[in-house]
Amino acid sequence: MDLVILCTVSVLILTILLIGFLGLIFVIDCDLLLLWKSKFGAKTDSLAGKVVWITGASSGIGEFLAYKLAESGCQLVLSARRVNELQRVKSECILRGRVKEDDVLVLEIDVLDFNKHTKAANKILSHFGKIDILVNNAGRSQRALAAETSIEVDREMIEMNTLSVLSLTKAVLPHMMERKEGHIVVTSSVAGKIGAPFSATYSATKFALQGWFDALRIEQKENNINVTMVCPGPVFSNLLQHAFTGEAGTTYNRDMQATEKRITTERCAELMAIAMANNMYEVWISFSPPLFFTYLTQYSPTLARWIAGIVGMKAIHKIREGNA
Ligand SMILES: NC(=O)c1ccc[n+]([C@@H]2O[C@H](COP(=O)([O-])OP(=O)(O)OC[C@H]3O[C@@H](n4cnc5c(N)ncnc54)[C@H](OP(=O)(O)O)[C@@H]3O)[C@@H](O)[C@H]2O)c1
Repeated sequence: MDLVILCTVSVLILTILLIGFLGLIFVIDCDLLLLWKSKFGAKTDSLAGKVVWITGASSGIGEFLAYKLAESGCQLVLSARRVNELQRVKSECILRGRVKEDDVLVLEIDVLDFNKHTKAANKILSHFGKIDILVNNAGRSQRALAAETSIEVDREMIEMNTLSVLSLTKAVLPHMMERKEGHIVVTSSVAGKIGAPFSATYSATKFALQGWFDALRIEQKENNINVTMVCPGPVFSNLLQHAFTGEAGTTYNRDMQATEKRITTERCAELMAIAMANNMYEVWISFSPPLFFTYLTQYSPTLARWIAGIVGMKAIHKIREGNA
């Protein structure tokens, strides 16, 4: 009899906890550990004085991360292809932040120019004398069915989103290993945790990063080099304008709509900076349903795949575009 009561009470408590957890997941905008760190963890001011190299700093998440880190007192290297946009971001950093002209270096780089990566890293070292944090943020999304995506696009996307990130990381690693100190931050995606329909190659490029950097984190533990994987869900930015389609040489060219359910670029950058300040391994930045599905995929992949099959690709795509 006692056992029956014990089992009933346990099931009741577990049910209440599960309902509480589900209720919470549907009102927050990031994973629970990151939420905890944002309230009780190290503040972003603890990053003051760090030299941070951000790729893809000319717009979107990289741009707003630059503002947040400038406010926190970091010295910044802003990289992308459009120098005029980088200059605009630099001026705004000086206006908003605790940084002066010399604290922000604009460094033009096309991440696809692999043979210029080491040269770029050396330029930063001669300007600042060190690189504390590399934020591998530059990237391009995709909207096309896998079966309709040409192999040229697959190859271009892997070069852009995966190989360039590995190459840039290798360009700064010798310096960090010598100093026995460093931090690599990667803007991955929720699509790097869950296969995203209409973005199969994009998912593949981000899944590859997850695996490579998980291995690197273990290898570089002895050199005191950490890796933070940042996995945003839908975030306002210019991502869809420049997204690949299935056909080489074309872009998706769509603006995000204010009515879509997406995290603001500013909030995403703030949470990213908190993850950096707290040296976290991996963080998820998203509203639910994508946040809920990320939890489900992480802790119950079979159930998640079964539900995805029932929900169907069109509904999942709608959720991903913030039109749930
Ligand atoms: N927005 C989202 O919903 C979302 C969700 C999950 C993950 N992400 C990831 O977040 C990262 C940033 O994207 P975003 O949303 O902020 O999009 P965005 O506004 O389009 O920014 C992309 C940045 O990448 C740079 N870039 C593109 N191609 C480059 C190249 N060949 N060489 C150097 N820089 C290049 C762009 O600068 P230039 O054009 O000046 O070179 C721009 O600064 C990406 O890795 C993306 O996969 C975004």
